[in-house]
Amino acid sequence: DRYQLWGGCFFEEPSAVLRRLNDSLSVDSRLYREDIRGSRAWADELHRSGHLAAEDHGDIQRGLVEVEKDIEEQLSSTGRLLDPEEDIHSVVESRLGARVGAAALRLHTARSRNDQSATDTRLWMLASLPALDIALKQLVEVLVKRASDELEVIAPGYTHLQRAQPIRWSHFLLSYAWALRDDVARLEEQHQRLSRCPLGSGALAGCALPIDRPRLARSLGFDDITPNSMFAVASRDHIVEFLNWASLCGLHLSRLSEDLIIYSSQEFGIVRFSDQFSTGSSLMPQKRNPDGLELVRGSAGLLLGDSFAFSCVLKGLPSTYNKDLQSDKEILFRSYDRLLDCLKVTTGSISTMEVVASRALASLEPGMLATDLAHALVRRGVPFRRAHHLLGAVLRRARALGHDLQTLPYAEYVAICPEFGTEEELRGLFSWEASVEQYSSAGGTARQAVLQQLETTKYRLLSL
Ligand code: ARG
Repeated sequence: DRYQLWGGCFFEEPSAVLRRLNDSLSVDSRLYREDIRGSRAWADELHRSGHLAAEDHGDIQRGLVEVEKDIEEQLSSTGRLLDPEEDIHSVVESRLGARVGAAALRLHTARSRNDQSATDTRLWMLASLPALDIALKQLVEVLVKRASDELEVIAPGYTHLQRAQPIRWSHFLLSYAWALRDDVARLEEQHQRLSRCPLGSGALAGCALPIDRPRLARSLGFDDITPNSMFAVASRDHIVEFLNWASLCGLHLSRLSEDLIIYSSQEFGIVRFSDQFSTGSSLMPQKRNPDGLELVRGSAGLLLGDSFAFSCVLKGLPSTYNKDLQSDKEILFRSYDRLLDCLKVTTGSISTMEVVASRALASLEPGMLATDLAHALVRRGVPFRRAHHLLGAVLRRARALGHDLQTLPYAEYVAICPEFGTEEELRGLFSWEASVEQYSSAGGTARQAVLQQLETTKYRLLSL
């Protein structure tokens, strides 16, 4: 029979359809460890403050350890709990009763599922977010490693997906390492607001028994307590913050994925994904599809949607606990799992892909040096705006004669502007290596500037 925590004043059972909408065990059974940890700390605190006799306290502690083992075994063999109760809090209390009898009736003294569920979720996040932190740092490390191995590779850099200027491939990889490194910092900044214990806030008004909340919070590993019982049971801001963070991180992964997907197409051919991170077609034998990164790109949309959906749930809720809040865990777990998988798939795809340096080089074309030629005029005193127009004239002339910037005869250059210098000086500008090496100021694509970035990413990652 079902053990129900409420219902004393009810004559009838809830309807089957309400139960289906209301029951959350399939989602919140994932919190069983945190629920039991919270209950054990609560029983300790009740005992220390004189509201739970030593014998009952002993029974509860022993019983909760056994219940945890039972649940763990059941979850690892069948993957779910078949208990008839509506949520994990009811299941733990019911199973405790079956184990230790009357002592179990004292566990919920002065506690509500409102502060209990809020505490469980925060404990779960505190235990689980470090895995994202680690996965994210591993991705940054892979980007940094490839960047330092592939410093010699020169590739086209794009704006508007049009060939813009030559860049070092490493510079491109590091552009994402920097964004993701900021994500690491933003994740870690959430800890201080997350690490506040709501337990002892009751349903909304606080705790009528004189418990020591800071001591209780410390015993659960929290840095602090929530400072207001109504805020404690009402707020899901830490979840909103996490979801918004996850969508920003997803957005970075999605843009990186999109770049690499494009670069892996036959038209670009700059990267080739490993078998491990590619899939084939059931019809076309030659296909090699970048499904992994496409799923990452799609997941970024789902992360954004979930984050927006949850804010929509919160908007307009009246004070303190309302059952609408129950959806927090479903969205939190789903986004967490999704992002963790995406980080790992991205890391795997990047660490095992092949970079085809010859194709990167072949994708460069002399027009991409037009900016450098304009700068050469600037170095000889031509105002930049005039130099820009002069290069426009050179490009028009080259096009009219069926040439590119490199094959256009020297005489045509000096006819447009004598400041192009000697033929040798002009020809010297047509080197990809010389081009990227000009961009040597901090944050640029020259070797020294990229090496400097490699040093600082490594240093700043270690310092996080
Ligand atoms: N399963 C509920 C949740 O996670 C627990 C809190 C229920 N509280 C209540 N007053 N109905 O939100």
